[in-house]
Amino acid sequence: MNRKFTKAMFAGSFDPITNGHLDIICRASKIFDELQIGVLHNPNKKGLFNFDERVELIKSCTSHLDNIKIVSFDGLLVDYCHANDICTLVRGVRSEADVNYELQMAHMNRELNPEIETIFLPTNTKYSFISSSLIKEVLTFDADVKNLVPEQVLIALKKKSKGRE
Ligand code: PNS
Repeated sequence: MNRKFTKAMFAGSFDPITNGHLDIICRASKIFDELQIGVLHNPNKKGLFNFDERVELIKSCTSHLDNIKIVSFDGLLVDYCHANDICTLVRGVRSEADVNYELQMAHMNRELNPEIETIFLPTNTKYSFISSSLIKEVLTFDADVKNLVPEQVLIALKKKSKGRE
């Protein structure tokens, strides 16, 4: 069979990467020959982790996967994909609310570039309530998030909160 080499893009802010993201990354990496993880580079948006820290965390959490490429992008995601020969966007969906939002993005991206398709992977139910923003919110109250993020991220989060004391 003359199968085409398949490349896909999983993009986000990853501030920080969570177990939910990691679940989608592992599953998508089994479907495609190469999965690019696109880290949004927006110097105007201040996150908890700076760009380099976010990339380092993703790198260390995905080091067991051999078909991952971590890249940065700014501007339109479809423009990055077009320039890099990527025809598929992968998005994880956790809930009905996500579906509504994600459908809107998928339609817009399709309008911007009809050659790039979006595919949705339903999040593993045990991660369906996790988001980077909620993790950061509960952390401000010293909640335990050890089941929600990879170990490397937990260590980095603890360092951040120590630095703030
Ligand atoms: O971590 P997020 O917030 O789910 O990531 C959203 C992201 C970065 C994938 C989305 O905001 C995006 O693609 N931004 C780049 C600008 C762009 O292409 N906007 C049009 C989206 S329809």
